[in-house]
Amino acid sequence: MLNPRFAALGDNPFERLNRLLAGISPGANPILMSLGEPQHPPPDFVGEVLYAHRHLYGKYPPLGGTPEFLEAVAAWLRRRFALPDAAVVPARHILPLSGTREGLFLAPQIAVPAEKAGARPAALMPNPFYHAYAGAAVAAGAEPIYLATRRETNFLPDLETLAPALLDRTAVFYLCSPANPQGTVADLDYLRRLVRLAHEHDFVLLIDECYAEIYLDAPPPSALQAAIAETGNFERVLVFHSLSKRSNAPGLRSGFVAGDETLIGRFRTLRSYGGALPSFPVLAASTALWRDEAHVEHNRALYRRKFAIAERILGNRFGFYRPAGGFFLWLDVGDSENAAKHLWTSAGVKVLPGAYLARERAGEENPGAPYIRLALVHDDRDTEQALRRVAEAF
Ligand SMILES: Cc1ncc(COP(=O)(O)O)c(C=O)c1O
Repeated sequence: MLNPRFAALGDNPFERLNRLLAGISPGANPILMSLGEPQHPPPDFVGEVLYAHRHLYGKYPPLGGTPEFLEAVAAWLRRRFALPDAAVVPARHILPLSGTREGLFLAPQIAVPAEKAGARPAALMPNPFYHAYAGAAVAAGAEPIYLATRRETNFLPDLETLAPALLDRTAVFYLCSPANPQGTVADLDYLRRLVRLAHEHDFVLLIDECYAEIYLDAPPPSALQAAIAETGNFERVLVFHSLSKRSNAPGLRSGFVAGDETLIGRFRTLRSYGGALPSFPVLAASTALWRDEAHVEHNRALYRRKFAIAERILGNRFGFYRPAGGFFLWLDVGDSENAAKHLWTSAGVKVLPGAYLARERAGEENPGAPYIRLALVHDDRDTEQALRRVAEAF
């Protein structure tokens, strides 16, 4: 017996891409720009701290993290987002995660009721979106509602067009800022509007801030700041942060969720039943990473340099722009599936079709369909070579 809920989800974007290119030989030595897996090395001290704590692999991980980890994260949150000291109580407002994906997937389990406003609960999310949001909504029994994000609305969902009846049955609202794939940063006004809507219509904000440390000029704000500005506390707001992008450690599987005290409490209980908890050595390495800014500043400089390379090579072709945050290029090529096939066949460059990151809705075309996503995760040389091939291929 299979759970029919999942049938509509289909394969994730990477499985679809593999199917699209199956059996096709690359036209040159392959360069994989499809996956957002940072290739800059993590700081050396990660390995050293893991090794120094290796005896603790013999212990089950603590459910709520270690005091050192929680304090390091709290200090980072206060410093990075200018939050009042007293607003962040480490053991009440923060929970470690084995990467943000785990938390983003589990969150609706604690926030989606059986029914809302007499109807099936809705999980709102941007379109295109990170695929975990849709899977999470479906697993929790909510209806995923995909909100188109286009250039005209600064690649953010247009909050003013949301029908009150839809907002009334909304249980969770996902937003990614800086956005994957477009790199848009939601400003404080936008986040404050979201917080007000969450209070007016009784839903929970799940704000994916895992790219918050990769930015061009201004550091992106957090929904936690918006919550404090609106209500003086974190009620109805959860934010998700990760060391995968900030510290180039996607394999460490380390992040955290922070915000609403009641929701964090429920999260802790849920994870005691089925969570994948970070081990003591991982928590120790993560503590050291959240305390250090030098490697993060260096990392940002590497990405800025690659966006400069991209600008030099692509100029104003394909609607090129330097995103405010994140490490993706989002290029308008007309037909993303054909373009991805063509780039692989003729140039050996693997890119992700925007069509696979978004859903088609009745009466609307797929908002990702014209775009390809390229992750600038390689070194300067490979990035330059890949982008030259892209420029020549069209
Ligand atoms: C938008 C977004 N959210 C969450 C994740 C998950 O990251 P992690 O689980 O490594 O923290 C990713 C990974 O690529 C992502 O792009």
